[in-house]
Amino acid sequence: MLKAIYGTKDVLPKDVEKWNFLESTIKNIFASFNYKEIRTPLLEETGLFSRSIGEETDIVSKEMYTFQDRSETSITLRPEMTASVVRAFLEHSLSSQSSLNKLFYIAAMFRQERPQAGRFRQFHQFGAEVLGSSSPLLDAEIIILAYTILKSLGLVDITVKINSLGITSSRKVYLEILKEYLESHLNELSEESRKRFEKNVLRIFDSKFENDIQIMKDAPKLIDHLDDESKQEFQVVQNILRSEQIPFLLDSSLVRGLDYYSKTTFEIVSDKVGSQSALCGGGRYDGLIELLGGTPNYGVGFAAGIERILLALQNEKTKLPDNSSLDLYVVLLNKELLNEYYLFATALRKNHLKVEIDYLSRSVKAQMREANKLRAKFVALFGGEEYAENKVVLKNMGTSVQQVLPLENADKEILLSVGS
Ligand code: HAM
Repeated sequence: MLKAIYGTKDVLPKDVEKWNFLESTIKNIFASFNYKEIRTPLLEETGLFSRSIGEETDIVSKEMYTFQDRSETSITLRPEMTASVVRAFLEHSLSSQSSLNKLFYIAAMFRQERPQAGRFRQFHQFGAEVLGSSSPLLDAEIIILAYTILKSLGLVDITVKINSLGITSSRKVYLEILKEYLESHLNELSEESRKRFEKNVLRIFDSKFENDIQIMKDAPKLIDHLDDESKQEFQVVQNILRSEQIPFLLDSSLVRGLDYYSKTTFEIVSDKVGSQSALCGGGRYDGLIELLGGTPNYGVGFAAGIERILLALQNEKTKLPDNSSLDLYVVLLNKELLNEYYLFATALRKNHLKVEIDYLSRSVKAQMREANKLRAKFVALFGGEEYAENKVVLKNMGTSVQQVLPLENADKEILLSVGS
């Protein structure tokens, strides 16, 4: 039997309802903060991601779906959106149309990671990228936006962690201090961390090995070596979060897995999804636009994983709104009225009622059973004596009250009854 590719999954109709709820909530909140949607291609040239995210990161070195197309161009299925959004921003000179671009997206991403609960090879992110301002107000806004969305979706058990990585020059000085400290512990570090020591020393803070964690606990902290500008801006961010009553923890080991960050970084984690606890991550990436060939400019953003959020909602036992019920099920009593029956239902559908009929020549009893199963609010009994008198019976399934309506204005009456 043919199956979906390992690490990808179908979203079946019963779950699409949840996705639609998530997507409409997300879009409404982005609209209230005046973010505009952007859509970019799934495929990009590989160099876009290796330059933006960093050659030594896990994403670029191990996880990208990369292939040569027929014209021998190296193509990658996007593993994240920030690089694509910055590319589109530069390609279409968006900064000449507006000095500040507040953009959002809801889109599929691809990473060849080992699948587990909350981790897929095709997954979906919603996120925002703000291009054009260095204001720490936007660092705070991005965190507030992400937090507001997660709360509006019904999540309770979430924690915001924030950190500042400073500007490149102060980070460079700090990295030397960190290396100096780690040199005396090199033999005790895991093999993975020893490799990171050479290539991306900051990422040793992400190690899951207990011994590494202990060693990193006593390591010098980047937050204590910040430049004055980053320090001051980080204070502004914290002040705004406090006045907005967003609870947060300072986490000096929050270094993120992508190389483009500077200054503020953050993650929102759930205590309800096991090891894949990060629902959302982001921060400022002021050097990225220049790195991709643009005139120096500023950027800040976040992205959140939809599958992980759905898992957290499920584990928190949050009930999502369910719009799957029907307004009306029309039961056919006499098979010879098939044509009239169909026209009756169609007229109501044209009035935007959610109407279902029987296509399987079922008995009246089986049709009633189906109406119950589909949670129809009303059932119309079409045919029989009432039809002979140009009438139809309408039953309210909640109250069991029945009324007999003249056929010629049944649609208006039903609209009134269903709407009330
Ligand atoms: P990221 O931390 O790599 O950041 O991913 C953001 C979120 O995507 C994660 O917190 C997680 O919820 C979800 N995610 C990542 N990988 C998977 C996976 N394999 N399966 C399911 N969910 C996953 C970024 O992607 C940055 N572009 C965020 C950003 C935007 N920074 C600035 N602007």
